[in-house]
Parts: sequence; structure tokens; C-alpha cells
Amino acid sequence: MAYENIIVEKRNGIGIITLDRPKALNALCAALIAEMEQALTDFEADDAVRCIVLTGSERAFAAGADIKEMKDKDYAEVLNEDFITGDWEAVSHCRKPTIAAVAGFALGGGCEVAMMCDMIIAADTAKFGQPEIKLGTIPGSGGTQRLTRAVGKSLAMYLCLTGEMIDAETALTAGLVAKVVPADELMNEALRVASLIAGMSQPVVKVCKEAVNRAYETTLAGGVLFERRTFHATFALDDRKEGMAAFAEKRKPEWRDR
Ligand code: CAA
Repeated sequence: MAYENIIVEKRNGIGIITLDRPKALNALCAALIAEMEQALTDFEADDAVRCIVLTGSERAFAAGADIKEMKDKDYAEVLNEDFITGDWEAVSHCRKPTIAAVAGFALGGGCEVAMMCDMIIAADTAKFGQPEIKLGTIPGSGGTQRLTRAVGKSLAMYLCLTGEMIDAETALTAGLVAKVVPADELMNEALRVASLIAGMSQPVVKVCKEAVNRAYETTLAGGVLFERRTFHATFALDDRKEGMAAFAEKRKPEWRDR
């Protein structure tokens, strides 16, 4: 597929999707979202891809859903087409690990797509916000939900009700991002972390991701039981035997992804 709004590349087991609509600060128009879903589907099906990095430009990860594209829609239209569902949720349905490498603006849908990733690594230039209230609407792709789970009620309310932005250090303190690095080191660091993950046993990475995600969806007791049974299930994998044998024999494990 020839992409017009994203750049797709593969490097050493890592699939990289770069949002590329510079004139609109990577605003998430329907065509961009469809291309992102296609690229994710292709990476999911590609055994050579073991971790995915989603990034934007120095100026913007993404400045939100495309306001110009949606401004004339009416209620019946957005309801009937279930606007901002389907392919918008592709990142959150991805089974492979995903890292958002964020520099500049991550606003509205941009912040929401970053939060759909498994972790966010931020440049010190990153700015996060849910400014939809300033447009007379509210976040539509998980902003009131994932943000609240990530940073707690008070800061989520502040961001959603004022539309103000927070900087990378504040996002780090609040637990929205995993780490902050100087802007010119962002991709190197995101790729370094992606390489670490890509170097693990893939079935173990998959169930580990599922177990962490379960924490959002269940009670503590239910989540711990899910984790325990999944932990038990790893004992059926060759790679669990190899990992522990390699430790005991003081050598590097050789994963077979099974
Ligand atoms: N949609 C469409 N176009 C956008 C856009 C968006 N979300 N964000 C920026 N752009 C466009 C601007 O219209 C401008 O285009 P023109 O040159 O053709 O005028 C271009 O990108 C550059 O933007 P600015 O000139 O505004 O740049 P700036 O540096 O002065 O300001 C900004 C940057 C603060 C991010 C500002 O562009 C802005 O406030 N953008 C809108 C942010 C926003 O409200 N996002 C939420 C969208 S709604 C949503 O996402 C719903 C949801 O939950 C899914």
C-alpha cells in the first residue's frame, strides 16, 4: 500500500510508523487513521516485527483529530458511522508491544492514541493535553478514561475541563509517560527500548502485555488470579525452560518463540 500520511519502515525487528502530515501537525484525518490501521495489521502479521514504535515529528506527535474534517458533521452522522471507533482503536487492539515516542504536541486524539500504546517515551519538548472542551466537545477516544486511569481524577479533570497542556516532566511525575529524554535522543531511546522488548521471547511478551492490560479491566483479586494462571501457563513454554536454564548455566538464553 502506498501511504500518503504515514511513513512505515522496519529496522532490526522493530516496525516504525511515523505520522507524517506536517502541514496539519499530524492531525488525525480519516485517511491517516486508515493507513495507520493498515500498517499495524501488516506489522501484526509479520513475524519479523517484534515491537512497534509509533512516532510523529519534532513539532507534533499529533495535534488531535482533524477538526476541519469533522466540523460539519451532525449528530446522526457521527452516531450512524460510529465516528472515532473501528480503525481508531487499532492501536489498543494490537497484540504486539507498542511504544509511542512523543515529541511536541500530543493533544486530543493525539494524546489518546499515545495512551493506547503500551508505553509513552517523551521528548523534553512533549506537551500533552485534552483541549476538546475548547471546541465545545469532549475527548472521544478514551481521553476521559485512559487519562484518568493513568494520572488520577484530579489531574485528568484539570486537563479535560480546562483544556490546558502539561509538559513532559509533569507527565512523568503523574505517571502518564515511562521516561523523558532530550528531544534529539527520542528515537534512539525509543528504538533501544523496543530492541530490548524485541529481544525477549515473543509469546511471553504477548501474555505479559495481556496481564498488565488486565489490571485496567478487572478487580485486584481477578487480575492477580489471571496473572497467576498466566504465570503457570508460561511453564508450558520451551522458552520458560530455556530462560531459567540459561540463568543457571550463566549464558544468554536462546529464545525459540515457543
Ligand atoms: N485539526 C486540523 N488541523 C489542525 C489541527 C487539528 N486538530 N491542529 C492543528 N492544525 C493545523 C492548523 O489549522 C494549521 O493549519 P493552517 O496552516 O492551514 O492554518 C496548522 O495545523 C498549524 O497549526 P497552528 O498554526 O495552529 O500552529 P500553532 O503552533 O500556532 O498551534 C496548536 C499549535 C496549539 C497545536 C494548535 O494548532 C491547536 O490548538 N490545534 C488544535 C488542538 C486540538 O484542539 N486538538 C483536539 C482535536 S479534537 C479531538 O482530538 C477529538 C478526539 O478526542 C478524538
